[in-house]
Amino acid sequence: MKEIIFVSGASRGIGNSIAKYFAEKGHIVLGTSRSKFKFDTQSDKLIPIQLDITSREDVKNCFKYLKEQNLLPSVLVNNAGITSDQLFLRMKDSEWDDVLSTNLTGVFNLTKVFIKHMIKNKYGRIINISSVSGLMGNPGQVNYSSSKAALNGFTKSLAKEVGSRNITVNNVAPGFIETDMTSFIDADKKDEIINTIPLGRFGNADDVSELVYFLSSNEAAYITGQTISVDGGLLMY
Ligand SMILES: NC(=O)c1ccc[n+]([C@@H]2O[C@H](COP(=O)([O-])OP(=O)(O)OC[C@H]3O[C@@H](n4cnc5c(N)ncnc54)[C@H](OP(=O)(O)O)[C@@H]3O)[C@@H](O)[C@H]2O)c1
Repeated sequence: MKEIIFVSGASRGIGNSIAKYFAEKGHIVLGTSRSKFKFDTQSDKLIPIQLDITSREDVKNCFKYLKEQNLLPSVLVNNAGITSDQLFLRMKDSEWDDVLSTNLTGVFNLTKVFIKHMIKNKYGRIINISSVSGLMGNPGQVNYSSSKAALNGFTKSLAKEVGSRNITVNNVAPGFIETDMTSFIDADKKDEIINTIPLGRFGNADDVSELVYFLSSNEAAYITGQTISVDGGLLMY
């Protein structure tokens, strides 16, 4: 079945890869970013939208527009996220607020507007992109780890609320993935990190897209409330 997919933060990195992956499979993808952008692949399936997910007003206007266009999604990928790393003692209020408002409240804002349509249709897939940092912690990331750990609770509680409506809610927790977000890591530090990853490399964005695609598929219909890591074995329970 061809579906409409909404991917936040699709201008680059993991979200960009997810958007293109779904479009290649023939789905219509609505991909957002704060800045005006174009997809670097020519496809009438890829629709770029400028949207700051921290603005409730903008999110509501976007919802209204998509409803008018008959483009409400059945799959929501809450991917957009930011870091603003700092040791806790030096962390500014704004560094805490910015990360929480994007990584957690942004997920709330988007899910709130799109879930009603899924409930009405008795079908939907919500996939949140969290992080191993939210599962194992990371120095300098109290704000980021907190926001991503919160997504685990968000996912489980919502999965319990909407399971009876045939809506699944899952979390994907990437480890170190080669994107702009990890591009600041210098070569020595990168080697140090790679030594802790059993598969001996950083992941690429497609490693994440394939799992997201699977979780959106019928084959994953009986999986909900889970956090699944894509991290080369960095974190094992
Ligand atoms: N890369 C990793 O190693 C890694 C590991 C674990 C988890 N993750 C998670 O995976 C997700 C994607 O990460 P990435 O590495 O692909 O990041 P990235 O390359 O920095 O891309 C982030 C995307 O989110 C968008 N974005 C940021 N704030 C936004 C906002 N308020 N409203 C709308 N869009 C916004 C950005 O576009 P604009 O800047 O134009 O808004 C961009 O498209 C994030 O949630 C991140 O926390 C990444």
